[in-house]
Amino acid sequence: MASLLSIESSPRGEYSISRKLTSAFVEEWQKTHAGGTVVNRDLFTTTLPFVDLPWIAGAYTPAEQHSPEMKKALEIGNTLIAELKAADHIVLGTSMYNFSTPAILKAYIDQIVRVNVTFTPQYEGLVKGKKLTIILASGGVYTPGSPTEGYNAESSYLKQVFGFIGITDVNIVLAGGTGAVSMGQRSLEDFVAEFTPAVLEAAK
Ligand SMILES: Cc1cc2nc3c(=O)[nH]c(=O)nc-3n(C[C@H](O)[C@H](O)[C@H](O)COP(=O)(O)O)c2cc1C
Repeated sequence: MASLLSIESSPRGEYSISRKLTSAFVEEWQKTHAGGTVVNRDLFTTTLPFVDLPWIAGAYTPAEQHSPEMKKALEIGNTLIAELKAADHIVLGTSMYNFSTPAILKAYIDQIVRVNVTFTPQYEGLVKGKKLTIILASGGVYTPGSPTEGYNAESSYLKQVFGFIGITDVNIVLAGGTGAVSMGQRSLEDFVAEFTPAVLEAAK
């Protein structure tokens, strides 16, 4: 049976464009994958500590030698990695903050990229055979081939880091120009409608 992991990272609730588009993706995916399972991971309701000394020590120590502190530090990462490994398709809704990934998403990434668990010491990714769809909402427009493309450090970073752990089938839907909604020049509904066809296509 097909399984989808839906990851949300915007703090803006009902005003979030990435959340609206990710919800449309999940709805379509459920229609096209009857009987499939969906796991929701909201990074804003997940306690995501930064990597600390017990985490680093634990990551480089065999599990049977872990201290209670190391075990605790690796706990949330273990849960997140298990979710990732169980999914066939992952949809990740994200914003662009300061041309890159919001800190909460970086904290998630720091938890899931772990030696011997999601990549080998020889840098081979261990999370294989997955599809990843990223829905990236940004105030500005960073269309590939345009003069502003180079400002978008987030798409290339996310492709690189997920590729590093073995997820190489990555499709990014760039929902650029949300600034027009924030400034009241466009309605949220009108903006979401423009990007919905690309999102629905990605969910097939
Ligand atoms: C702290 C912060 C930093 C931002 N930095 C950028 C940026 O560098 N480039 C950009 O195009 N938009 C930037 N934005 C705008 C957001 O990407 C935009 O509002 C997007 O729609 C947020 O996603 P959401 O609607 O899912 O919450 C920023 C917004 C915030 C709050």
